[in-house]
Order: sequence, then C-alpha cells, then structure tokens
Amino acid sequence: MKQGRVSQTALKVAHNLVALSAKDDWQQRLPEDLSEMSERLLVASEQPGMGPRMMRVSKGPWMVRAYKLQELLMPGQFEGFGYRKIYVQQKVEAAIKDGAEQVLFTGAGFDTLCLRLAPLYPSIQFIELDHPATSAAKAKGIALEGQPANMLQIAADLGETSLSKTLLKNRHWSPSLRSVIVAEGLFQYLTDQEVRELLIEAAACTSLGSRFIFTHAKPGYSKTVTFLTNLVAESWKSSVESEDLPSYVKDTGWEITSGVDTDERHGVERYAVAERI
Ligand SMILES: C[S@@+](CC[C@H](N)C(=O)[O-])C[C@H]1O[C@@H](n2cnc3c(N)ncnc32)[C@H](O)[C@@H]1O
Repeated sequence: MKQGRVSQTALKVAHNLVALSAKDDWQQRLPEDLSEMSERLLVASEQPGMGPRMMRVSKGPWMVRAYKLQELLMPGQFEGFGYRKIYVQQKVEAAIKDGAEQVLFTGAGFDTLCLRLAPLYPSIQFIELDHPATSAAKAKGIALEGQPANMLQIAADLGETSLSKTLLKNRHWSPSLRSVIVAEGLFQYLTDQEVRELLIEAAACTSLGSRFIFTHAKPGYSKTVTFLTNLVAESWKSSVESEDLPSYVKDTGWEITSGVDTDERHGVERYAVAERI
C-alpha cells in the first residue's frame, strides 16, 4: 500500500455498504445505523469522490446496477460485504456475552462496529488499529459522531510494528483480560508469514479463551481481483482454504473453533473464529 495514502479498499468497502443499503431489503438486514454511519464517515473523510452528492448517487438505481455489473468480475462481492458485517457483529457480540472485556479491530478502515457498539457496551474497551493515513481520515468522522469514552484509535502499520509491543504499551489494553480481536478483510493484504506473525503477536497479548474473528481470501481468486487490487496498490498476498485453517494457525496460540465455511454468498472470502489456547 502507498505510504501516506488513505486505503482505497477501506473506502470501497464502506461505499459498497452505502450502495448495498439501497438494494432489496438490505437496509433492514444490515445492523442498525451501519450504512448511515458509513456514509457519514465517508463524507467526513474528505476523500475524492466521497462527497454528499456522490453518496446520494450511490443509493440510486444506477449505482446498484453498476455494482451488479461488478459481480461479473468479482462474484458475490456486492452482498458479500453485507454478510461479512453481519457475521463479524454477531461473533463479537457473542464473545462479549461470553465474557470478553476488550475488543481490538485490526485494519479497521471505515468500519462502524466499534463506534456503534461502544455506547451499547460502556464497560468494554474498543480499540481500532489501522495505517496512520486511514486512521487520520476516519478520525475526522469519529470526532463528528462523538468519540465514545471507551473507544480509541491506534495508528500503526502492522507490517512494521509489533502488535504486542503496540498494545502492551497502551494503558487501555490489558493482556490478562478476555479479549476479542477482529481482522475483517485484512489477512489477504498480508503474506502468509505476516498472518502467522500477527496471530502469534495477538496470542502474546491476550489471555486464554480470547477469540480471533477473521475473514480470509479463498485460493484461486480470479486474475481480475489481482489486477484490481494491484491497480490501487493494495495487492492480495495470501489465501487459504477454509478446511485448511486448523493447520494454517497451528502453533500460533490459536485453535479454529468455527466449522468449515462453504457459503458461496461470502464471495471470494470465507469467515472463521479461533480461540486462544
Ligand atoms: C479491505 S480494507 C477493510 C477495512 C475494514 N476492515 C472493513 O472491513 O470495512 C483493509 C484495511 O486493512 C488495513 N491494512 C492493510 N494492511 C495493513 C497493515 N499492514 N497495518 C495496518 N492496517 C493495514 C488498510 O489500511 C485497510 O483499512
């Protein structure tokens, strides 16, 4: 990814969700305020093509048609982001119900989960981590929304910084608490080795029983995906079959607890949960 540039794929995911909210019954299916908040964060980011006028166009029939056309290149991607958001929120809330006391969202982009859940769970600490440029662009929107007292952003490049050192020096993170770590749409931007290192690093700053909720690319994604992600300088670098995840995470301190994801509606990605052992 180009240093100092706001993640184009993060903008794309949020924009996709705004457009998806205008399709069929997706507005009702998406978690409450997700698409509206995504829209507000995009506008506040002041990024080219993300102004209020573009947001109005994005919810019109032409944009939905344009995204449907994109399905020819990346099957399942338009609705896939909707399924991904629903899955991650359900798993994070389930972990909180089961005793998790802090949530770290890595590669958060313009995701709204922490902003929406922090006021609902005032005793839980929510932390977002992303590249500095993307974090800064999102911070403008967070300020307008009103930053919850139990939510903060950390600006860091996981390719260059150790996750455990970053977290352990932050007084808001406690390694002894039951935690949830989310990596939604992040693994494919890291190499297999970097994913492994991230898991090991995450294990080093979480207690037993913590959960790692993540999505990953399926091998064999099309040349189009490679072309498009290279085009915005955010190439995909790793992929793994859902059934191979147990060996993929072996000896990292995590064990896969979710079943094999065979859901074609998830497009080029699959979803999983691991538990700290
Ligand atoms: C496809 S976007 C997904 C954003 C968000 N998770 C979502 O689903 O809406 C990938 C995100 O990962 C972040 N990212 C990629 N590589 C990273 C790294 N090495 N360190 C920190 N963040 C990274 C990007 O800045 C971007 O925000």
